[in-house]
Amino acid sequence: MRPSLLTLSVSLALLAMARGDRYHPARRAPATAAPASARAATPDEAERSAAYWYSEAFAAIDERLVEPTYDEVARNVVMFLGDGLSVPTLAAARALRGQRAGRPGEEERLSYEHFPVTGLAKTYCVDKQIPDSACTATAYLCGVKNNYGTLGVTAAVPRHDCAASADPATHLDSIAAWALADGRSAGIVTTTRITHASPAGAYANSANRGWESDSDVRADGQDPARCPDIADQLVNSHPGNKFQVILGGGRRAFRPNTTFDEESQPGRRWDGRDLIEEWRVQRDEAGQSNAYVWNRAGLLGAINSPPDYLLGLFESGHMQYAAEARQAGNDEPTLAEMTEAAIRVLSKNPRGFFLFVESGRIDHAHHDNMPHLALDETLALAAAVTRADELLPRASSLLVLTADHSHVMAYNGYSRRGNDILGVSDDLGDDDVPYMTLSYTNGPGYRPHVDGRRADVTSDNTFPAVAWKSHAEVPLESETHGGEDVAVFARGPAQALFTGLYEQSQLPHLMAHAACLGPAAARRALCSGAELAAPAAALLFALLAALFHMH
Ligand SMILES: *[C@@H]1O[C@H](CO)[C@@H](O)[C@H](O)[C@H]1NC(C)=O
Ligand SMILES: [Zn+2]
Repeated sequence: MRPSLLTLSVSLALLAMARGDRYHPARRAPATAAPASARAATPDEAERSAAYWYSEAFAAIDERLVEPTYDEVARNVVMFLGDGLSVPTLAAARALRGQRAGRPGEEERLSYEHFPVTGLAKTYCVDKQIPDSACTATAYLCGVKNNYGTLGVTAAVPRHDCAASADPATHLDSIAAWALADGRSAGIVTTTRITHASPAGAYANSANRGWESDSDVRADGQDPARCPDIADQLVNSHPGNKFQVILGGGRRAFRPNTTFDEESQPGRRWDGRDLIEEWRVQRDEAGQSNAYVWNRAGLLGAINSPPDYLLGLFESGHMQYAAEARQAGNDEPTLAEMTEAAIRVLSKNPRGFFLFVESGRIDHAHHDNMPHLALDETLALAAAVTRADELLPRASSLLVLTADHSHVMAYNGYSRRGNDILGVSDDLGDDDVPYMTLSYTNGPGYRPHVDGRRADVTSDNTFPAVAWKSHAEVPLESETHGGEDVAVFARGPAQALFTGLYEQSQLPHLMAHAACLGPAAARRALCSGAELAAPAAALLFALLAALFHMH
């Protein structure tokens, strides 16, 4: 008699019971103690008691119950974006911060993890299951899903189709444009090139995210006169030409290829134009105080006496990773410093502002299978949130933090509490070879098998350097994005809107509803009356108070 499927599975289950649980088998101790896990901090003794967890929960309930009251309408909106900030990245980054402070780490709370409201956003774009940073930027800044690789245009525009994108009916406005239309200020901050996909979602209409300079448009066989490059749009088109703050990397798209920039890097433009100079001339001619800065010292100077318009381009390409900049002696500002400079400039407008702040290189580190750098960039983002929180009045400022898309980094194994988040799992594979707590399903970290066995990556010469590549299952030159939902954290006026699970393209409408901006404002009765209500009421109150004092 042939064994039936049932008898087969029963005997497998019996076998599993003999070894414990087939799905959660007993740990296999590593042959050699991993150097990394030897550093593990032990959990607080108090965690062994029920009382500890009860009081932890009660403190959390109290925190929710004494939730501060917020204004009905947000005056300021700051949107923080972690490019590629997947949920496993959030969890691992918090562990890294705790471990750097000598604690186990899993219990750590990062700045945005104190926000009372969280949600989940669905990130697919119109033509792709798994999106890129251009279609997602269009979703979370313009409120419309569109095609992979396209920016600020509807899904009627296929990627690379200059002619289709020349039709103004396909162009989308961003929440930054909505803010400007309401008389508020707007600004963008990023650690990538300022013409890169995420920040460009705030100001560009382009059939291809790659058209950062006119030479890129030409290289794609298109005419920059018909489809202006992204840098040109930032300086010369609405709404970019009204942004009070523009901070990031990417000087090369602004300078002619016949010139070298402040750090001796060549420009990329073929049209001979210097867009940084054009920006300056525009401001001067309009009589607007302005500053162009290109290094940290320049930016810190601008923080002290903020001009009305601030342009900072700190690299020819992307800015350095925070870890690189620290090592190189900090000649580039941190994301927190750029955020502070932006808020100081934008806060000069009493009507308020919209600010976009991106930690853009979490994504790059993941593409290279470098978890340490990805987590460190995430902590730089958390520090920028802390800075914004210190500088802005809580009652009237809506802070939102999210990601554009996920990545394929796994946070896996059954390591003991406090195990080095950047180290090997406490466990071994069934092949007796170690595996990393943070590893990838694909990417350049793939290692060919040696004598039919997985490579022991901990024997790499460079392990565990900051820029070391973890292992990946499928060889790919660049690790891919992931398709699952990303987290959204919110605090401030109308924060409750951000709970639940929704399309990513709802985000700017939620923020706009909260702040009485854009198309969403027309649907909210409060917005028509609220237009000048907050400042006017405050002025009236101040006048009455002054009168009262005089008597
Ligand atoms: C620089 O731009 C000119 C057009 O102005 C072009 O002919 C030339 O090939 C460019 N040089 C480089 C190195 O890209
Ligand atoms: Zn990416």
